[in-house]
Amino acid sequence: MTSPATAPATGTGAGEPPPHPAWLPPEAFRAIGARRVLVHGDGPLVDTVHDEVARACARHGGRVQRTVAGPVDLVLALRDSGPLPEAVPPAATAAPGPDGGSPGDEGFLLTRSDGVTVVLADAPAGLLYGLFHLVRLGEAAFTGEQPTRVHRPVLRRRMLDHWDNVAVHPVMGQVERGYAGGSIFWRDGRPRGDRDRLRAYGRLLASMGINAISVNNVNVGPTEALLLTDRLDDVAEIADLLRPYGVRVHLSVTFAAPVVLGGLSTADPLDDGVRDWWESTTRRVYARIPDFGGYVVKADSEGQPGPFSYGRDHADGANLLAGALAPHGGVVHWRAFVYDHRRDWRDRTTDRARAAYDHFAPLDGRFAENVVLQVKFGPVDFQPREPVSPVIAAMPATRLAVELQVTQEYTGQQWHACYLAPWWHEVLAFRLWGPAERSVADVLADVLADVLADVPGPGPHRGGELVAVANVGDDPFWCGHPLAQANLYAFGRLAWDPRLDPVALLDEWIDLTFPASTVGDPALVRETLHAVLDDSWRTYERYTAPLGVGFMVNPAGHYGPGVDGYEYSRWGTYHFADRDGVGVDRTCATGTGFAGQYPPPWSQVYESLEQCPDELLLFFHHVPYSHVLHSGSTVIQHIYDTHFAGVEEVVAMRDRWSRLAGMIDPAVHDRVTERLAEQLRCATEWRDQVNTYFFRKSGVPDARGRRIH
Ligand code: GCU
Repeated sequence: MTSPATAPATGTGAGEPPPHPAWLPPEAFRAIGARRVLVHGDGPLVDTVHDEVARACARHGGRVQRTVAGPVDLVLALRDSGPLPEAVPPAATAAPGPDGGSPGDEGFLLTRSDGVTVVLADAPAGLLYGLFHLVRLGEAAFTGEQPTRVHRPVLRRRMLDHWDNVAVHPVMGQVERGYAGGSIFWRDGRPRGDRDRLRAYGRLLASMGINAISVNNVNVGPTEALLLTDRLDDVAEIADLLRPYGVRVHLSVTFAAPVVLGGLSTADPLDDGVRDWWESTTRRVYARIPDFGGYVVKADSEGQPGPFSYGRDHADGANLLAGALAPHGGVVHWRAFVYDHRRDWRDRTTDRARAAYDHFAPLDGRFAENVVLQVKFGPVDFQPREPVSPVIAAMPATRLAVELQVTQEYTGQQWHACYLAPWWHEVLAFRLWGPAERSVADVLADVLADVLADVPGPGPHRGGELVAVANVGDDPFWCGHPLAQANLYAFGRLAWDPRLDPVALLDEWIDLTFPASTVGDPALVRETLHAVLDDSWRTYERYTAPLGVGFMVNPAGHYGPGVDGYEYSRWGTYHFADRDGVGVDRTCATGTGFAGQYPPPWSQVYESLEQCPDELLLFFHHVPYSHVLHSGSTVIQHIYDTHFAGVEEVVAMRDRWSRLAGMIDPAVHDRVTERLAEQLRCATEWRDQVNTYFFRKSGVPDARGRRIH
């Protein structure tokens, strides 16, 4: 089936209720709002800090001032705005501890002595992030003496991509793979004009550390293409609204823009006229939006135009746009999601998983400084289980962005509770050259370059970013499923520091979203949210495609089971189940050779049937149903067991959740209850279709005699 109807769209236009405050309810500002606060410094972002504090003080009884008058409890100060106010205790200006260094453009120093909490920053964005750090700390920010600590983002750009269409797409709708109602930016071909909602969004973005967004789908249609030229004002309006929160706006553009917008006969990246067109067009963009972030490009992929049409490669294409952006400080995010989507399912020698590496690894070293190669975390397509993309290890001379999918295209479409941070954490912690070597997070962590100089393994790398496809829409809860807000929050925090712990992030989110003073039984609320969410990604994995084989989704909307839905299609995502076995042989010895794209030891680990981790077995190997896993179970029994277990876990989630009735906002409780009922229905459908399919194929009964249809 396609996904259940999405929640009715509501907005914050005239007469519409404001959206849910997510993790920034007024109560989350109590600790700050109850204090005497000094905000020192000038500029729009400092004004934002001041306004936030002023609003909190008006509600919670504190006061805020811009110049010193009387004693204060909290100082938020820019260091370069003249002499520091006397209210700053001398100890607060002492050098930071061993994790020190300068706070840089976006960091801040935090300290507390003589009863005064102090946040010092060198640039306004740092002050803004310092403020939201205090919000997270709550009362803890105002207790005891605290030595000076530097906080700064590990990744310099932290970005969300919106796959929002300006005009409603006949198949994909207003938001491609959007499960939270309409777009917050666009409606029926026009800007939505919902300024309050965009401001509220900017605030949420800043509070989790996001500093860049793209405002339209990577699949750029005729209406969306015009955002670059005729409809640039629409983009500028969004940029104006998000600027006070330190967020820069990027635009997805079509590689064919010189033809479709400029009337040129070619978009050949080596053509002088094409280069001139991009340069002059980009100049006009910066004249209108001086802090414009840059372009996002999906080229030669799933029907989008690209340099291949002109016999050029993707370094030629990316460098063309990078050249136009460079004088203005912009970047091009060039997506590595390039593959042939017109395959022949009969041909078992070619492999979609190989495509990104085959296209891009040979180009390492050829990309301009301001090209960011945006690589999906896995080689196929945002599945709940895939190996980490081998491209990440293969391109030390290229700046990389690892792309995650917060929108739950393949993970239950915001009808299923599926907390994805544990999965992202596994990806980011994956050690690309073996257990003692650098992780994905290390490769991306450019501000840690000095620290990492001592870490063994290939490098230095060019550093990078985290980017994710957003899960936000005009739904009253922003994300359709109120608990999907935790994914958005955790992504932002991981983009700030990819080494953060997913369980701790969930606690942060719980503390902010459900402040203890606003819920019936705070301990029960916390315990229940952990019980529902901590393992929810693995639960989802259990009741869907087994052992890393992927897909098996209904092709109509990627929601619900469709075991053979893609098996005889052109999309290159197969499981090859027959009466004897299942899985894709991606070994070098007898398969597609994909395993050979990894550096050792992973190339050998994945090549080897004995060493390959169970959870990826069917991604790399075609095995008989009787194959015995490391767990001791056979493949067929594992399929049965995990599918029965997955549904039982959803029943437990539903039952746990029901105990929160009357303890939290009833609107949130009802919405989650409704979604858990749908999750249980859908998980049951997955279980029964997958188990029945494999029973019919294999003829092997369940060792425990449970009902298989
Ligand atoms: C997936 C998704 C598409 C999207 C594409 C992309 O294939 O289903 O809707 O356009 O990824 O990342 O470009």
